[in-house]
Amino acid sequence: MHTLKAIQALRDTLAEPRQRGQRIALVPTMGNLHAGHLALVAHARKRADVVVASLFVNPLQFSPDEDLDAYPRTFAADQAALENAGCDVLFAPQAHTLYPNGLGTSTQVHVPDVSEGLCGGSRPGHFDGVATVVSMLFHLVAPQLACFGEKDYQQLAVIRKMVADLHLPIEIDGVPIVRADDGLALSSRNGYLSAEARTTAPALYRTLRAMREQLARGDNHAAVLEQGHQALQGAGFTPDYLALRDTRLDPVTAHTREAVLLAAAYLGSTRLIDNLTLDLPAS
Ligand code: PAF
Repeated sequence: MHTLKAIQALRDTLAEPRQRGQRIALVPTMGNLHAGHLALVAHARKRADVVVASLFVNPLQFSPDEDLDAYPRTFAADQAALENAGCDVLFAPQAHTLYPNGLGTSTQVHVPDVSEGLCGGSRPGHFDGVATVVSMLFHLVAPQLACFGEKDYQQLAVIRKMVADLHLPIEIDGVPIVRADDGLALSSRNGYLSAEARTTAPALYRTLRAMREQLARGDNHAAVLEQGHQALQGAGFTPDYLALRDTRLDPVTAHTREAVLLAAAYLGSTRLIDNLTLDLPAS
Protein backbone atom coordinates (compact mmCIF):
# COMPACT_ATOMS: atom_id res chain seq x y z
CA MET A 1 0.00 0.00 0.00
CA HIS A 2 1.29 3.46 -0.88
CA THR A 3 0.83 6.03 1.89
CA LEU A 4 0.81 9.52 0.39
CA LYS A 5 0.45 12.97 1.89
CA ALA A 6 1.03 15.15 -1.17
CA ILE A 7 -1.42 15.88 -3.99
CA GLN A 8 1.20 15.46 -6.71
CA ALA A 9 2.28 12.06 -5.34
CA LEU A 10 -1.37 10.97 -5.36
CA ARG A 11 -1.85 12.12 -8.97
CA ASP A 12 1.41 10.44 -10.07
CA THR A 13 0.52 7.16 -8.37
CA LEU A 14 -2.94 7.02 -9.93
CA ALA A 15 -1.84 8.12 -13.41
CA GLU A 16 -0.65 4.71 -14.51
CA PRO A 17 -3.65 2.60 -13.42
CA ARG A 18 -5.91 5.27 -14.86
CA GLN A 19 -4.07 5.10 -18.20
CA ARG A 20 -4.46 1.31 -18.21
CA GLY A 21 -8.20 1.86 -17.88
CA GLN A 22 -8.36 0.43 -14.36
CA ARG A 23 -11.38 1.23 -12.23
CA ILE A 24 -10.58 3.32 -9.15
CA ALA A 25 -12.70 3.33 -5.98
CA LEU A 26 -12.47 5.89 -3.18
CA VAL A 27 -13.33 5.29 0.47
CA PRO A 28 -13.23 8.64 2.31
CA THR A 29 -12.62 8.37 6.08
CA MET A 30 -11.62 10.45 9.06
CA GLY A 31 -9.61 7.53 10.48
CA ASN A 32 -10.05 5.76 13.82
CA LEU A 33 -11.19 2.89 11.67
CA HIS A 34 -13.55 0.14 12.81
CA ALA A 35 -15.26 -2.78 11.10
CA GLY A 36 -17.75 -0.38 9.47
CA HIS A 37 -14.94 1.35 7.57
CA LEU A 38 -13.35 -1.96 6.66
CA ALA A 39 -16.69 -3.09 5.20
CA LEU A 40 -16.46 -0.05 2.90
CA VAL A 41 -12.96 -1.10 1.81
CA ALA A 42 -14.12 -4.71 1.28
CA HIS A 43 -17.02 -3.44 -0.84
CA ALA A 44 -14.70 -1.20 -2.88
CA ARG A 45 -12.21 -4.05 -3.27
CA LYS A 46 -14.94 -6.20 -4.91
CA ARG A 47 -16.02 -3.44 -7.28
CA ALA A 48 -12.76 -1.82 -8.42
CA ASP A 49 -9.20 -2.57 -9.48
CA VAL A 50 -7.57 0.10 -7.34
CA VAL A 51 -8.84 1.03 -3.88
CA VAL A 52 -7.90 4.44 -2.49
CA ALA A 53 -8.79 5.32 1.10
CA SER A 54 -8.44 8.86 2.37
CA LEU A 55 -7.78 9.66 6.00
CA PHE A 56 -8.37 13.27 6.89
CA VAL A 57 -10.01 14.73 9.98
CA ASN A 58 -11.70 17.55 8.12
CA PRO A 59 -11.76 20.72 10.27
CA LEU A 60 -14.35 22.34 8.00
CA GLN A 61 -17.11 19.93 9.10
CA PHE A 62 -16.62 20.61 12.83
CA SER A 63 -18.18 23.70 14.41
CA PRO A 64 -16.10 25.64 16.98
CA ASP A 65 -17.91 23.94 19.89
CA GLU A 66 -17.38 20.42 18.53
CA ASP A 67 -14.74 17.82 19.23
CA LEU A 68 -12.13 18.43 16.46
CA ASP A 69 -9.11 18.36 18.80
CA ALA A 70 -10.47 15.45 20.79
CA TYR A 71 -11.35 13.46 17.67
CA PRO A 72 -9.46 10.15 17.99
CA ARG A 73 -6.36 9.95 15.80
CA THR A 74 -4.98 6.42 15.43
CA PHE A 75 -2.87 6.70 12.29
CA ALA A 76 -0.55 3.69 12.68
CA ALA A 77 -3.41 1.31 13.52
CA ASP A 78 -5.52 2.71 10.65
CA GLN A 79 -2.68 2.31 8.18
CA ALA A 80 -2.16 -1.34 9.23
CA ALA A 81 -5.90 -2.08 9.08
CA LEU A 82 -6.21 -0.60 5.59
CA GLU A 83 -3.23 -2.54 4.32
CA ASN A 84 -4.69 -5.78 5.76
CA ALA A 85 -8.04 -5.01 4.15
CA GLY A 86 -6.42 -4.81 0.71
CA CYS A 87 -6.32 -1.06 0.22
CA ASP A 88 -3.84 0.03 -2.48
CA VAL A 89 -3.37 3.71 -1.72
CA LEU A 90 -3.83 5.66 1.51
CA PHE A 91 -4.10 9.42 0.97
CA ALA A 92 -3.57 11.23 4.27
CA PRO A 93 -3.06 14.94 3.58
CA GLN A 94 -2.37 17.67 6.14
CA ALA A 95 -4.98 20.40 6.62
CA HIS A 96 -2.75 23.00 4.93
CA THR A 97 -2.48 20.73 1.86
CA LEU A 98 -6.24 20.70 1.30
CA TYR A 99 -6.89 24.21 2.62
CA PRO A 100 -3.76 26.21 1.70
CA ASN A 101 -5.66 29.49 2.07
CA GLY A 102 -7.11 28.58 5.46
CA LEU A 103 -10.69 27.59 6.19
CA GLY A 104 -12.40 30.96 6.29
CA THR A 105 -11.75 32.12 2.73
CA SER A 106 -11.69 28.81 0.81
CA THR A 107 -14.40 27.94 -1.70
CA GLN A 108 -17.16 25.84 -0.17
CA VAL A 109 -19.77 23.53 -1.64
CA HIS A 110 -23.34 23.88 -0.38
CA VAL A 111 -25.94 21.25 -1.24
CA PRO A 112 -29.35 22.85 -0.62
CA ASP A 113 -32.50 21.22 0.80
CA VAL A 114 -31.12 17.84 1.76
CA SER A 115 -28.45 19.47 3.98
CA GLU A 116 -31.17 21.29 5.93
CA GLY A 117 -32.79 19.84 9.07
CA LEU A 118 -31.93 16.62 10.94
CA CYS A 119 -28.13 16.62 11.52
CA GLY A 120 -27.86 19.75 9.36
CA GLY A 121 -30.24 21.53 11.74
CA SER A 122 -28.25 20.58 14.84
CA ARG A 123 -24.83 21.04 13.22
CA PRO A 124 -25.03 24.20 11.09
CA GLY A 125 -22.42 24.19 8.31
CA HIS A 126 -21.53 20.54 8.89
CA PHE A 127 -22.69 19.31 5.49
CA ASP A 128 -21.02 22.24 3.71
CA GLY A 129 -17.77 21.00 5.25
CA VAL A 130 -18.50 17.41 4.21
CA ALA A 131 -19.56 18.34 0.65
CA THR A 132 -16.51 20.60 0.24
CA VAL A 133 -13.94 18.03 1.32
CA VAL A 134 -15.65 15.17 -0.52
CA SER A 135 -15.82 17.16 -3.75
CA MET A 136 -12.12 18.02 -3.31
CA LEU A 137 -11.30 14.33 -2.84
CA PHE A 138 -13.42 13.47 -5.88
CA HIS A 139 -11.39 15.93 -7.97
CA LEU A 140 -8.04 14.73 -6.63
CA VAL A 141 -8.69 10.99 -6.92
CA ALA A 142 -11.15 11.09 -9.83
CA PRO A 143 -12.61 7.70 -8.88
CA GLN A 144 -15.28 5.86 -10.87
CA LEU A 145 -16.82 4.66 -7.59
CA ALA A 146 -16.99 6.05 -4.05
CA CYS A 147 -18.30 4.17 -1.00
CA PHE A 148 -20.02 5.65 2.07
CA GLY A 149 -21.66 4.08 5.11
CA GLU A 150 -25.44 4.09 5.36
CA LYS A 151 -25.14 4.99 9.05
CA ASP A 152 -24.62 8.58 7.95
CA TYR A 153 -27.84 8.47 5.97
CA GLN A 154 -28.18 12.22 5.47
CA GLN A 155 -24.51 12.53 4.49
CA LEU A 156 -25.03 9.86 1.83
CA ALA A 157 -28.09 11.74 0.53
CA VAL A 158 -26.10 15.01 0.42
CA ILE A 159 -23.31 13.36 -1.56
CA ARG A 160 -25.70 11.67 -3.97
CA LYS A 161 -27.38 15.02 -4.67
CA MET A 162 -24.05 16.81 -5.07
CA VAL A 163 -22.88 14.19 -7.58
CA ALA A 164 -26.16 14.41 -9.51
CA ASP A 165 -26.31 18.23 -9.48
CA LEU A 166 -22.67 18.64 -10.57
CA HIS A 167 -22.87 15.84 -13.15
CA LEU A 168 -19.87 14.09 -11.62
CA PRO A 169 -19.15 10.77 -13.36
CA ILE A 170 -18.89 8.90 -10.06
CA GLU A 171 -21.05 6.02 -8.90
CA ILE A 172 -21.97 6.29 -5.22
CA ASP A 173 -22.48 3.09 -3.24
CA GLY A 174 -24.06 3.07 0.19
CA VAL A 175 -22.80 0.21 2.36
CA PRO A 176 -25.04 -1.23 5.13
CA ILE A 177 -24.48 -0.30 8.76
CA VAL A 178 -22.19 -2.64 10.69
CA ARG A 179 -23.47 -3.25 14.23
CA ALA A 180 -21.99 -4.66 17.42
CA ASP A 181 -23.57 -7.90 18.68
CA ASP A 182 -25.92 -5.88 20.89
CA GLY A 183 -27.12 -3.80 17.94
CA LEU A 184 -25.17 -0.57 18.50
CA ALA A 185 -24.11 0.89 15.13
CA LEU A 186 -20.31 1.03 14.99
CA SER A 187 -18.98 4.59 15.17
CA SER A 188 -15.73 6.27 16.11
CA ARG A 189 -17.74 8.24 18.68
CA ASN A 190 -18.65 5.02 20.57
CA GLY A 191 -15.14 5.24 22.02
CA TYR A 192 -16.23 8.34 23.99
CA LEU A 193 -18.91 6.37 25.88
CA SER A 194 -18.32 5.49 29.54
CA ALA A 195 -18.75 1.81 30.44
CA GLU A 196 -22.21 2.61 31.80
CA ALA A 197 -23.25 4.64 28.74
CA ARG A 198 -22.01 1.83 26.48
CA THR A 199 -24.52 -0.55 28.10
CA THR A 200 -27.32 2.00 27.53
CA ALA A 201 -26.35 2.85 23.94
CA PRO A 202 -27.99 -0.17 22.18
CA ALA A 203 -31.38 1.15 23.38
CA LEU A 204 -31.19 3.58 20.45
CA TYR A 205 -31.38 0.73 17.93
CA ARG A 206 -33.93 -1.19 20.05
CA THR A 207 -36.15 1.90 20.10
CA LEU A 208 -35.95 2.29 16.33
CA ARG A 209 -36.84 -1.39 15.87
CA ALA A 210 -39.84 -1.11 18.19
CA MET A 211 -40.97 1.99 16.26
CA ARG A 212 -40.55 0.16 12.95
CA GLU A 213 -42.86 -2.62 14.19
CA GLN A 214 -45.50 -0.11 15.28
CA LEU A 215 -45.33 1.74 11.97
CA ALA A 216 -45.43 -1.47 9.95
CA ARG A 217 -48.72 -2.42 11.63
CA GLY A 218 -50.16 0.97 10.75
CA ASP A 219 -49.94 2.91 14.02
CA ASN A 220 -50.27 6.69 13.89
CA HIS A 221 -46.93 8.25 12.90
CA ALA A 222 -46.99 11.14 15.35
CA ALA A 223 -47.90 8.83 18.23
CA VAL A 224 -45.10 6.40 17.36
CA LEU A 225 -42.57 9.24 17.19
CA GLU A 226 -43.76 10.58 20.54
CA GLN A 227 -43.49 7.13 22.17
CA GLY A 228 -40.03 6.66 20.68
CA HIS A 229 -38.97 10.02 22.10
CA GLN A 230 -40.22 9.02 25.52
CA ALA A 231 -38.55 5.59 25.30
CA LEU A 232 -35.20 7.24 24.53
CA GLN A 233 -35.58 9.68 27.40
CA GLY A 234 -36.59 6.82 29.70
CA ALA A 235 -33.44 4.92 28.73
CA GLY A 236 -31.26 7.91 29.65
CA PHE A 237 -30.80 9.64 26.27
CA THR A 238 -31.36 13.30 25.49
CA PRO A 239 -32.93 13.02 22.03
CA ASP A 240 -31.76 15.54 19.45
CA TYR A 241 -34.23 14.44 16.78
CA LEU A 242 -36.33 11.45 15.87
CA ALA A 243 -37.84 11.62 12.40
CA LEU A 244 -39.73 9.58 9.83
CA ARG A 245 -38.92 10.54 6.24
CA ASP A 246 -39.16 9.01 2.83
CA THR A 247 -35.92 7.54 1.53
CA ARG A 248 -35.02 10.85 -0.17
CA LEU A 249 -35.47 12.54 3.22
CA ASP A 250 -38.62 14.36 2.17
CA PRO A 251 -41.61 14.29 4.56
CA VAL A 252 -43.73 11.13 4.28
CA THR A 253 -47.10 11.42 2.59
CA ALA A 254 -50.06 9.03 2.40
CA HIS A 255 -48.37 7.58 -0.71
CA THR A 256 -44.96 6.89 0.86
CA ARG A 257 -44.16 3.18 1.05
CA GLU A 258 -40.39 3.13 1.54
CA ALA A 259 -39.36 5.20 4.52
CA VAL A 260 -36.54 5.69 6.98
CA LEU A 261 -36.51 6.34 10.69
CA LEU A 262 -33.64 8.60 11.70
CA ALA A 263 -32.42 9.35 15.19
CA ALA A 264 -29.74 11.42 16.88
CA ALA A 265 -29.48 11.39 20.64
CA TYR A 266 -26.99 12.34 23.31
CA LEU A 267 -25.73 10.00 25.98
CA GLY A 268 -23.93 12.42 28.27
CA SER A 269 -21.95 14.56 25.84
CA THR A 270 -21.67 11.86 23.15
CA ARG A 271 -24.00 12.30 20.20
CA LEU A 272 -25.03 9.01 18.58
CA ILE A 273 -26.92 8.63 15.31
CA ASP A 274 -28.69 5.65 13.78
CA ASN A 275 -31.35 4.87 11.21
CA LEU A 276 -33.56 2.07 10.01
CA THR A 277 -35.38 1.73 6.70
CA LEU A 278 -38.89 0.31 6.65
CA ASP A 279 -41.93 -0.32 4.47
CA LEU A 280 -45.03 1.62 5.42
CA PRO A 281 -48.39 -0.10 4.89
CA ALA A 282 -50.93 1.40 2.49
CA SER A 283 -53.38 3.45 4.57
O1 PAF B 1 -18.13 10.13 7.18
C1 PAF B 1 -17.00 10.63 7.38
O2 PAF B 1 -16.12 10.01 8.01
C2 PAF B 1 -16.69 12.04 6.87
O3 PAF B 1 -17.82 12.86 6.97
C3 PAF B 1 -16.13 12.04 5.44
C4 PAF B 1 -17.14 11.51 4.44
C5 PAF B 1 -14.87 11.21 5.39
C6 PAF B 1 -15.80 13.48 5.02
O4 PAF B 1 -14.85 14.05 5.89
